[in-house]
Amino acid sequence: MKIALERLQKVLAGSGIGSRRYCEDLIRAGRVRVDGKVATLGMKVDPAKNLICVDGRKFTVSQGHVCLIVNKPKGYVSTVKDPQGRPKVTDLIHIPGVRLFPVGRLDYQTSGLILLTNDGELAYLLTHPKYGIWKTYHALVKGIPCPKALNRLREGVPLPEGKTAPARVKLLKELPGSQALLEISLREGKKRQVRKMCRYVGHPVVELKRVKLAFLTLKGLRTGEYRFLTQEEIKRLKDLARRKKNEHAPKIENCKLFEQKN
Ligand code: URA
Repeated sequence: MKIALERLQKVLAGSGIGSRRYCEDLIRAGRVRVDGKVATLGMKVDPAKNLICVDGRKFTVSQGHVCLIVNKPKGYVSTVKDPQGRPKVTDLIHIPGVRLFPVGRLDYQTSGLILLTNDGELAYLLTHPKYGIWKTYHALVKGIPCPKALNRLREGVPLPEGKTAPARVKLLKELPGSQALLEISLREGKKRQVRKMCRYVGHPVVELKRVKLAFLTLKGLRTGEYRFLTQEEIKRLKDLARRKKNEHAPKIENCKLFEQKN
């Protein structure tokens, strides 16, 4: 089988990192490596096989789309605009020519895992509740929740926006000063949901961090750092969301069939 080799600057430009000219400059400046070696202008690569790094970070080509996993610090908003002029998570990353937007949201005071992408389909698949992607949080809460309170969180609590869906909840640690560390996994994303759920059961959140989204974790990323997702990771996320949707689809015997009029 013939391997589709393409010029490196074309591969980089085609992924939205910047213009062809800009990508040529990146290569000339020695900022691009292919399989660990400094790349040269005009060299040909197989984007599916060669490991391409820009400024030491793994680079992914996905039909002109990119997706980054970011370890968001506290004190950043996860919207593209903020009327109050606070720092935005998108300020942490500048990829010329690529307009990134956050996938879902994390509160200003919440830290941890957030994805940034220019791929609308990926963002939709990961945020719409019908795709049921799990998101896991570590919540430091006031007081030590009793088993009954933990069960309430698991079963769902009534919020003004509606009852929360079943959640996975673990008491990870009881801490000095009457605080506890909870692990809470949700498949939905109502505004400030974890904070509201914990408050409802009488254990307000002191600190909140998202630690996992589907199979993605913050491994290797310090606060404020990011990396490109690989093509395989993007594909896995999309496949997972589509599979979840089918799992959630009503069984045929539960569907009401419309009577056909002759
Ligand atoms: N739940 C919250 O309360 N805040 C977040 O940022 C995410 C989930």
